[in-house]
This record gives sequence, structure tokens and C-alpha cells, in this order.
Amino acid sequence: MGVDECTLVGLPVIQNPQGNLTFIEEERHVPFSIARVYYLYDVPEGAVRGGHAHRALEQLILPIGGSFDVVVDDGSKRRRITLDQPRMGLYVPRMIWRELENFSAGAFCLVLASAPYDESDYYRDYDEFRAAT
Ligand code: TYD
Repeated sequence: MGVDECTLVGLPVIQNPQGNLTFIEEERHVPFSIARVYYLYDVPEGAVRGGHAHRALEQLILPIGGSFDVVVDDGSKRRRITLDQPRMGLYVPRMIWRELENFSAGAFCLVLASAPYDESDYYRDYDEFRAAT
């Protein structure tokens, strides 16, 4: 898997004068079955989250409030993607090292994941990850 396979996913928006609504359907907007949803919030200024890769997990990362950057790295190439629209998510396939940083104040990061939490699926050491790519 390479960083070029980290793709932006545009989601539908239903707009009306009372506000916008966006929805997500598995297999239609995310290319996997959604087994878990988690979210990050109250992230202090300057904090860096992530700093790991997954052996098998696929994710869709969504800025449902505010903005942040996702840095993706496949062991040879690095890309920085700013997420700042609630209707635009980033699909991250397996075997991509990722870091989340530059959170705006009050940002919310929603993550849809293809499997339940499993610590044995993580690479938390960059060198170990790189050796496996
Ligand atoms: P981690 O995935 O390292 O968070 P981040 O990448 O945002 O820095 O997880 C932080 C802690 O939370 C770690 O101890 C594992 C735990 N955790 C769960 O128990 N369940 C989950 O679904 C997630 C994502 C993390």
C-alpha cells in the first residue's frame, strides 16, 4: 500500500436553510464494513496523535468539526493532507504510518474503522513498520 492510495472521499451533503446534513453508508462511501467508530476531541494545542500504522485495519478519517492535518507515510513517501471540510474524509488503507497534528481549537476527528480495537494490529515503532514495507 502506498500513500497514493490514501484518497479523499467526498460525502453527500443535503443542504437546506436550517443547515447541512451528511451521511455515510458502508461499502458505498467507505470501501469496507464499519466495525468501529471512535473520535478524538479536546485535543490540546500542539498535540500530535497517531504515530502508528496498522497491519490490516482500514480507516476513514473525518474532520467533523474544525481542521487538522494527517501525515501519511508508506515507508518511502510522505504526504500531508489538511482535512477541514466535514464532507471530505481521508481513506487510509492498511500499512500506512500516520500522524495527526495541527488540530484547530475545538476540532473533532471522527474515525470509521474496519475492525474492533486490537493492539496486535498496530506498528508503534516506525523502524519496525518500515522494515515490513
Ligand atoms: P491510539 O490508537 O494510540 O490513539 P491515537 O492514534 O489517536 O494517538 O490509542 C490511544 C489509546 O486508546 C491506546 O491505549 C489504545 C486505546 N484505544 C482503545 O482502547 N480503543 C480504540 O478504539 C482506540 C482507537 C484506542
